[in-house]
Parts: sequence; C-alpha cells; structure tokens
Amino acid sequence: PAAPAAWPYPARIAHRGAGLRAPENTLAALREGAAFGYLMFELDAKLSGDGVLVLMHDETLERTTDGRGRVAASSLADLMRLDAGSWHSARYAGEGVPTLARAAAWLRANGLHANLEIKPCPGRERETGAAVAIEAERLWDAASVPPLLSSFSVEALEAARRAAPRLPRALLLQDVPHDWAARCRELGCAALVVQESALDEATISRAHAESLKVLAYTVNDPARAAALDAWGIDGLITDAVERISPG
Ligand code: G3P
Ligand code: MG
Repeated sequence: PAAPAAWPYPARIAHRGAGLRAPENTLAALREGAAFGYLMFELDAKLSGDGVLVLMHDETLERTTDGRGRVAASSLADLMRLDAGSWHSARYAGEGVPTLARAAAWLRANGLHANLEIKPCPGRERETGAAVAIEAERLWDAASVPPLLSSFSVEALEAARRAAPRLPRALLLQDVPHDWAARCRELGCAALVVQESALDEATISRAHAESLKVLAYTVNDPARAAALDAWGIDGLITDAVERISPG
C-alpha cells in the first residue's frame, strides 16, 4: 500500500471550509474555520467550462451563487462575477467563488492543510482528476505537506495517480462495500473516507491492518466523534467547528 510512514494530517477537518457557519467553499469559510482553530479543510474542486479549477460543490450554480446554469457551461470569467455569499447571509454578500489556486495560496500562507475532494462534473472525471493532481503539484512544492486528494470517482483517482503519483489519495465511500480493501489497494490509496454512519470498529481495525488510514464524514455530533476516536479513527470531517474541538 502507498500509506506514508507518518500521517502528516490533523485529526479534525472542517467540511467545505467551515461547515455551515460561512458560505461553503469560499475564502470566508476558510477564515471562519481557521478562527475556530481548524488546521485542515475539506474543499470540493471542479473544472470551469474553460478548464480552470474552482471550489464549488454542486454541478449547478443556483444553490450557492446568484448565477444560473451548469458550472461546466460557465467560463472562469462568468464564475468570477458571481456572488457566492449572499445565499448564506447578508454578512457575506459579494464573497466570490475562489479558484483552487487562490485558496491554496491562502492556506499555504497560513500554514494550513487541505483535503481536496475531486468533485467532477459528469463526464469530466478523468480530466478533473488529472487537473487537480497537476495543479496540486504546482501549488504545493515538494517540501510542503501535500493536500490529501479524495474522490468518490474511481476514474478521477486513477487519473490523479497517473498525473501525480506522489500525492496521497483517499477513496470516498458512502457505504462499505465487501471489496473496499481491494479497491483501495488497486488505487494505491493511503486512506478511505467513509460516511460516518457506515463505519464500525471492525472496519477501522481491518483498514489499519491493511496500512490504510480511516477518515469519517460528516461527523457533527461530539458524542459520535468521541466514539469514533475510541475506535481509532484517523480523522473526522465536520461541519460543527464550534462544537467539535480542532484537537
Ligand atoms: O469529502 C467528504 C464529503 O465532503 C463528501 O460529501 O457531498 O459533502 O462533498 P459532500
Ligand atoms: Mg466534499
């Protein structure tokens, strides 16, 4: 397995920047998560229509911006004109859609870590996986702790591996299929990131026996976080930055 000798990441990761406290996947969210002491951030990366990586969760613009239509049909210039903050609250009016490059610069300037979820628009899995990996190689030099790349898309992870084999990868899983260990091995993953309700102690132990780290998403209940910690979980992705201590 490709698991690094020492796992360099904090055990608490702020989901989409700062969960629900600030508009997701924006620099304001990163600032908010950092204000709560978080040192690592899960962010969703996808390609604009003209091939630039931006942070956005949905395939469409409506929920988290004042725009309309598909991200894949929008140029970077279109996306840069959007307000990605007002939908959340008036306080964040005018907050923009960040490029991955802009978010990475802010994280690196502040000594913070990233989990980049490769979130391809449909049909762009390989292209997006390769683009995130190449961009991550460019933005994080060899002396830095690289971002952890994760995806539900096997194709995206395969493409990321080909493009930048040294970057650590994690397979995202909503449930735990019988062949999860083989899937992780085939992808050369260092970790799996599992929906918290699908995790149990035996799965965590088995993953550790396979030299795989285990992360859980999205853990918002402090009691559940404590239970997962007792089972030896390696990381929790949370919206609840105000209730779950960054460690
Ligand atoms: O990366 C963990 C989690 O973010 C996956 O689900 O829909 O919140 O991107 P989603
Ligand atoms: Mg995500």
